[in-house]
Amino acid sequence: MQEKIEQLLQEFENLTASSIKEVEQLRLKFLSKRGVLSALFDEFRTIPNDQKRVVGQLLNKAKTRINQKLDELSASFNESFEENSVDLDLTRPIGQVRLGARHPLSIVRNQITDIFSRLGYSVAEGPEIENDWYNFSALNFPAEHPAKDMQDTFFIQQNPDILLRTHTSSVQIRKMETMQPPIRKIFPGRVFRNEAISARAHCIFHQVEGLYVDKNVSFADLKQSLYFFAREMFGDETQIRLRPSFFPFTEPSGEMDISCNICGGKGCNICKYTGWVEILGCGMVDPQVLLNCHIDPELYTGFAFGMGIERITMLKYQIRDLRLFFENDVRFLKQFQGAL
Ligand code: PHE
Repeated sequence: MQEKIEQLLQEFENLTASSIKEVEQLRLKFLSKRGVLSALFDEFRTIPNDQKRVVGQLLNKAKTRINQKLDELSASFNESFEENSVDLDLTRPIGQVRLGARHPLSIVRNQITDIFSRLGYSVAEGPEIENDWYNFSALNFPAEHPAKDMQDTFFIQQNPDILLRTHTSSVQIRKMETMQPPIRKIFPGRVFRNEAISARAHCIFHQVEGLYVDKNVSFADLKQSLYFFAREMFGDETQIRLRPSFFPFTEPSGEMDISCNICGGKGCNICKYTGWVEILGCGMVDPQVLLNCHIDPELYTGFAFGMGIERITMLKYQIRDLRLFFENDVRFLKQFQGAL
């Protein structure tokens, strides 16, 4: 038996194969269950015990060597495959990678949420389809308020009214209804108004709403927070101006202008030679609105503000026509590739 194994080993050393397929055939012939080696192991069981140690060692050696040799053979084919491969041209230029760009409204929305997150505001959202309560009634709009008019609001259904929200102020109610102060949140989102589409108006646009309700929140806090925002958004030189205004859900209410970021306040056609441009509406949350949401107005006060993302973006990037935001013309969108 010893001789048989030695002969096998020798035979094996001289073996060659001309393809990977042949190597696999050799592997089957020698190493499979019905292969040569397997037969030798069967035979091994029958030999006298005193020969077992020597023969056993030899047999194991043969097994290791055969495995080794077969691995060497198949490795040689893998290598020569790579060497001969003509398809691989390392000098070929790679396919062009087309870089996308964020939409300018997304860039600015992210900047706004970023600035307010540094003041401790977290982001929340509400539905675009609302009922009358969240969009109007809880916000103190009287029943016959003109904003509800068919000309302004897209109604999905009337009595009971289901509509596309006309502002993000609806999210104020949704949040105040479900949580008690302190509340410090911003609500970005899409809003809808039945307006004729022009360079300055669209029936779909975007707003970011802000709401801060806690003990001792004052108008001074509102002013300072918005001043911080204006400088972060438009630069340190930016001045703000608050003008009295009216919203049913804030009292007192104001509109905020910033010094024109194009001419620095000297006067140009963007600010219509006034030096100021309006960017948002704001005010102290009306006590009745707090009551509507089961928040005690004797204990808590708050402020809210709302701004149009399109308006801020137009000022920031000097975009003259609102329609560009919705046409998705790549020649327009491409210009924001490096913006952020
Ligand atoms: N919702 C108002 C609008 O769309 C803006 C606003 C928000 C005003 C919050 C005051 C407070 O015009």
